[in-house]
Amino acid sequence: MENHLLLFILLLIPALASSDLLVTHVRTIKKRNVDNDLVVNGIEIYSMKIDSKVTSRFAHNVITSKAVNRGNVHKEVVFDVELPKTAFITNFSMTIDGVTYPGTVKEKEAAKKQYEKAVSKGQTAGLVKASGRKTEKFTVSVNIAAASKVNFELTYEELLKRQFGKYEMFIKVKPKQLVRDFEIEVDIFEPQGISELEAEGTFITNELQNIVKKTFSEKKGHISFKPTLDQQRNCANCSQSLLDGDFIVRYDVKRTTPDNLQIVNGYFVHFFAPTNLPKLPKNIIFVIDISGSMAGREIEQTREALLKILDDIKEDDFFNFILFGSEVHTWKETLIKATPKNLDEARAFVRGIGTSGMTNLHGGIMRGINMLNDAHEQNVVPKRSASIIIMLTDGQPNVGVSNTQDIQTDVKKAIEGKYPLYNLGFGYGVDYNFLEKMALENKGLARRIYPDSDSALQLQGFYDEVSNPMLTDVELNYPENEISDLTKNTFKHFYDGSEIVVAGRFIDNNQNSLTVDVRGEGANDALSYTAQQDAEQTAKAFQEQQYIFGDYIERLWAYLTIEQLLEKRIAATGEEKENFTAEALDLSLKYKFVTPLTSMVVTKPEDHDNQDGIADKPIEVTAQDITAAMLAPQSFLHSSYPTWYTSVDGDPHFIISVPQKEDAICFNINENPGAVLNLINDPVTGITVNGELIGDKKANSGTKIQNTYFGKLGIANKHLDLKLTVTPEKIVVQKGNEKTGFTWLDSVTLQQEGLTLIINRKKNLVVSMGSGASFVIVLHQVWKKHPLHQDFLGLYTLGSDKLSEQTHGLLGQFFRPIDFTILEIHPGSDPKKPDATMIVKNKELTVTRGWQKDFREDPAHGIDIPCWFVHNNGAGLIDGVHTDYIVSSLF
Ligand SMILES: *[C@@H]1O[C@H](CO)[C@@H](O)[C@H](O)[C@H]1NC(C)=O
Ligand SMILES: *[C@@H]1O[C@H](CO)[C@@H](O)[C@H](O)[C@H]1NC(C)=O
Ligand SMILES: *[C@@H]1O[C@H](CO)[C@@H](O)[C@H](O)[C@H]1NC(C)=O
Repeated sequence: MENHLLLFILLLIPALASSDLLVTHVRTIKKRNVDNDLVVNGIEIYSMKIDSKVTSRFAHNVITSKAVNRGNVHKEVVFDVELPKTAFITNFSMTIDGVTYPGTVKEKEAAKKQYEKAVSKGQTAGLVKASGRKTEKFTVSVNIAAASKVNFELTYEELLKRQFGKYEMFIKVKPKQLVRDFEIEVDIFEPQGISELEAEGTFITNELQNIVKKTFSEKKGHISFKPTLDQQRNCANCSQSLLDGDFIVRYDVKRTTPDNLQIVNGYFVHFFAPTNLPKLPKNIIFVIDISGSMAGREIEQTREALLKILDDIKEDDFFNFILFGSEVHTWKETLIKATPKNLDEARAFVRGIGTSGMTNLHGGIMRGINMLNDAHEQNVVPKRSASIIIMLTDGQPNVGVSNTQDIQTDVKKAIEGKYPLYNLGFGYGVDYNFLEKMALENKGLARRIYPDSDSALQLQGFYDEVSNPMLTDVELNYPENEISDLTKNTFKHFYDGSEIVVAGRFIDNNQNSLTVDVRGEGANDALSYTAQQDAEQTAKAFQEQQYIFGDYIERLWAYLTIEQLLEKRIAATGEEKENFTAEALDLSLKYKFVTPLTSMVVTKPEDHDNQDGIADKPIEVTAQDITAAMLAPQSFLHSSYPTWYTSVDGDPHFIISVPQKEDAICFNINENPGAVLNLINDPVTGITVNGELIGDKKANSGTKIQNTYFGKLGIANKHLDLKLTVTPEKIVVQKGNEKTGFTWLDSVTLQQEGLTLIINRKKNLVVSMGSGASFVIVLHQVWKKHPLHQDFLGLYTLGSDKLSEQTHGLLGQFFRPIDFTILEIHPGSDPKKPDATMIVKNKELTVTRGWQKDFREDPAHGIDIPCWFVHNNGAGLIDGVHTDYIVSSLF
């Protein structure tokens, strides 16, 4: 049901080199002209084009961006696009000073290896990954020499889905600076004929309205948007661009019959969308989570959405509410008719919904299913009607049956395919995988509701999609002996304003006609008829159009097949899952689609090494994939200083902040390279953090104690099956068996269930897990040719209050308040560092006043934090002895 093509382009300009800043200034003062408006931090984007060709709902989009470095030092140019998961990238290439570096689609593991190999050689390499989640972000950054040019070209394809009577395409545009030649061009060819075509932009002002050119006649539609430089300006004389928002194209096709069959080159596609059918009454059960975590905004927005939904429920419909916290409550004992009186009563009930308790999801959903089953058996609801269960939850089941596998089994057994289950997951605390699996197993789908000011609208919008069933049990049958590789052809419900699409391949490549047998159950009677089409008719329908891309039906078939295999894969296990995966991978490679199973790799050919004469910095291309909305920037990293953090950094020294004393305690741990230390261990949240020590490049013979640092940190959340491995080279996120890798050259914001990861290129990364415990890992890069030292990591904890009282580990034991008293300050062996006696944990320790460095703000030099230093590996301060904290491996 997702038909949004969401895309935006932004070119990020890195911080200025100081010499360049000077040059820009001088120019600005001397002569302010159009050219200067176009150059932002040395980079001019002289062309940006979005070219979209749609043939029979299948969209083929090409984005090109061309930039030139007008400065006199080399500069980084970033190409950044976000696409929905419903679009597959099919090509990417970049051209630097006339030399093109094409991308190739590879199986994911192979692709990764090639990428890693390229990166280790310091070559240019781009990796396009599909995250397999809601949206995916694609970023490429290239460092180009003064006066050099770079072109980026990205192609992606998508089948536009019909919703609310229209096909809709979103293009989110954000060039961030004025572009001399900016253009959006959309060509649509629909053999059935176009009935309406609209284009609008959220950023388009009244004056700009007439720049959006729109024409359509018969089968062709054309839209173009080409604002001049002045029209792009935010205000008359300013150089900010007003192009910032969504450009939206909507259209529909003419329908003289419910069916449109197209046959080209041995493939067929069938679009089915009957109109003018009477609406089926529906029986709808809302199963709503009212556990404590829904309190506040979430339940308010749920109430608001339910009240709006009640306004839309039709008198023929039946409905009921089931609420689950620790207990399960039902509004009425059975489904009741939506009479005005009942609706009024329902409104009062909804207004009174409060929150309490834990999450008895199993109890709630099973009550709903049983109620619906009973209603059918006892003829409470009409025979010809469409039943739907919509469940909303924001958490994970933790009361009653809480094993998700058991819940899935029970639900599937109880529903028996009789009606679809729609699972709405509110926020990021849900086990979305589980919700999605369970919905797909029961002919429904899962949707995430993003916690935001429009959550109520998202809920309502979902209801609208399923609120007008017109047919149940739709089957589109083609002669079995003629067709192979058919996509899904049975559908539980057909909703008004949507469209069913089926594609397949003829066993005999030369076959040129097809018959389909259509069946479904409508409001008054059964639907049953036969439709026919031959290739000649298709050819005739396509006659006068120029922009058909020859194999589009074959690609549309491949697209649908891959999409459905990936979906089946979610609910499958074992060999079945392996088979789906293998099939989807084969097709992705054959048709060059970047799917969750494949990647696109762009490698700079070896013979072009340093051809630009960029000696000091290799050209870097990095890709990233992002799952959800961008997070707020890591403002907490820049909060006013000093704030007190408990941390471990350097060789390795631990700083334990004692805020109530506005002071700190510190200690070092001296262990051998290779030792893994447990830093944090919380049995309740399941979070552990371990660090592996590395030494210097060679042992320093002059001293007894060798310097050691953290060369590898492992953060795991057992409950979420999440593992994050960080080294000075790379960052690997592992969820279950799925691994995603990044380098420190990436600037990434990754948000997925239970995990938020922000990589601040070459500086630090912020990771936030589950309940909100956050850590900052700082990267220390030393000079590559340093004879002794190597790169290492530091760990800082934020939000340690989100961990449980039972947290332990070398750092974790200090998350609970600790108190100490200092007595008898007296001169020590170093005249600048007095010694003292510290009373802590009922022990007397000799401590020394000193400083340790906090590198959060300034990784190169650090900031001195005064602290009381506990000698001898923290003896007496830490529980037990430091060797108690040595563990066998990172996870
Ligand atoms: C990818 O794009 C490049 C640049 O336009 C082009 O040369 C190449 O043929 C395309 N590859 C495919 C498979 O379409
Ligand atoms: C824009 O610049 C022109 C020429 O410098 C000047 O005459 C005009 O008043 C300016 N308009 C605004 C709105 O500042
Ligand atoms: C998986 O594919 C193999 C080889 O095609 C086949 O023999 C096997 O039956 C399939 N297994 C399942 C569960 O579909």
